[in-house]
Amino acid sequence: MTAMQGRVEGFPAGFIWGCSNASYQSEGSLHELGRGESIWDVFCRLGGKVAGGGSGEGACDSWRRMEEDVALLRGLGVGAYRFSLSWPRIQPSGKGRPVQGAIDHYLRFCDLLAEAGIEPIVTLYHWDLPQALEDEGGWPMRETAFRFADYAALAFDALGGRVRRWVTLNEPWCSAFLGYGSGEHAPGRKDIGSAYRAAHHLLLGHGLAVGSYRETGLPGEIGITLNPATPRPATRREQDILAAQRFSVERTALWLDPLYGRGYPEAHLAARGIAMPIEAGDLGRIAAELDFLGVNYYNEDAIEAAPAGAGNPDGVAYAGDWHGRTAMGWSIVPDGLARMLARIHGQWRPKALWVTENGAAFADEDMEAGRVHDRDRIEYLRSHIASCRDAIAAGLPLRGYLAWTLMDNFEWSFGYTRKFGLVRVDSATGERHPKDSYHWYRDLLAGFVAP
Ligand code: FCB
Repeated sequence: MTAMQGRVEGFPAGFIWGCSNASYQSEGSLHELGRGESIWDVFCRLGGKVAGGGSGEGACDSWRRMEEDVALLRGLGVGAYRFSLSWPRIQPSGKGRPVQGAIDHYLRFCDLLAEAGIEPIVTLYHWDLPQALEDEGGWPMRETAFRFADYAALAFDALGGRVRRWVTLNEPWCSAFLGYGSGEHAPGRKDIGSAYRAAHHLLLGHGLAVGSYRETGLPGEIGITLNPATPRPATRREQDILAAQRFSVERTALWLDPLYGRGYPEAHLAARGIAMPIEAGDLGRIAAELDFLGVNYYNEDAIEAAPAGAGNPDGVAYAGDWHGRTAMGWSIVPDGLARMLARIHGQWRPKALWVTENGAAFADEDMEAGRVHDRDRIEYLRSHIASCRDAIAAGLPLRGYLAWTLMDNFEWSFGYTRKFGLVRVDSATGERHPKDSYHWYRDLLAGFVAP
């Protein structure tokens, strides 16, 4: 516990508060210590894929400013910091011996966090696949799952003494369907069959990693982070209710069913003519017991039925609604968070739930002498944290809340044009300037303001 931490009204003692981040979005220093290329380095160079032509070069310069970042976290009074390891730093070609310098860096970061009373929560894979593995076929190839498991085992071995909570994958739906289906994310392939193969191999890699974690006998916890969607039907008409259910399968049941031992949602796959590349033993490995389920929640959509066709196999459409929107165009629906947690808990009964990401991009125009008065972000965070309180009051096993994100960073295909941080980063100097939301979150964690 840090000195700052009090008790947030409506949350049990032991509830863990923190922030989330990811390696490629914040580290910069892409050429240090023989780091290999990741699929995002290559994707950013293609041109026309990332707003403003940005890349992870520079980013928040966090690789070199770890002391400063830890000081900001300490000032905030968080109990945990979720960050991801960069696989191409640890294994530049995606296989073989680890780079000791990269491991030493992460060990040092964990030590700095520990000195500040902050628990590291480590994500093994937040989208930065070594390009060398993509060149061999990437996630649609079965081998990639085994390479991921090898890398995970190296990470457990090197950092297992410092890290007590591990997240295998972040939002594998995005890796599979944005990376290989729509091509909006790296590696930018557009083939729906590859997206489903990638989904299976991501899940297999996850299951193998959980299995190898159990073999280490380490006393920590391991889970996965998904971005489920449990949209509202736009109306109470039956066709809209059914449309909303269809919409949610690819983001939710496609992942949770196999993770909780129910196999894949066969009707959904059959309707698309998809046969998953399952081999003997895969489903058992994927269903390895999870200590917790992480969910990232940003928004909840209203869905209506639409004519089904080749480009719209589900026959669904976004319906407009009266909710406000963030700079991402995402609807602001705080109570959708509690609804989603309840739906997931009701259907799959995870032992423990974590909100591993929640936050909002706003233009942050209200600035005065370098200080950002981000009232919109404060209201977004407050109302979503209130929704977490409601979920706990309803008896759900929610154990932690991690705000996305500590600092404005590289927002994938949006480059640096979308800002989610509690802290503004001066793009010219790299200097950090806490926004009002940083001060508000600190006051909340200190027990001075209630959600
Ligand atoms: C999530 C990602 C995270 C960040 C937020 C805004 O989907 O996990 O890296 O980009 O969205």
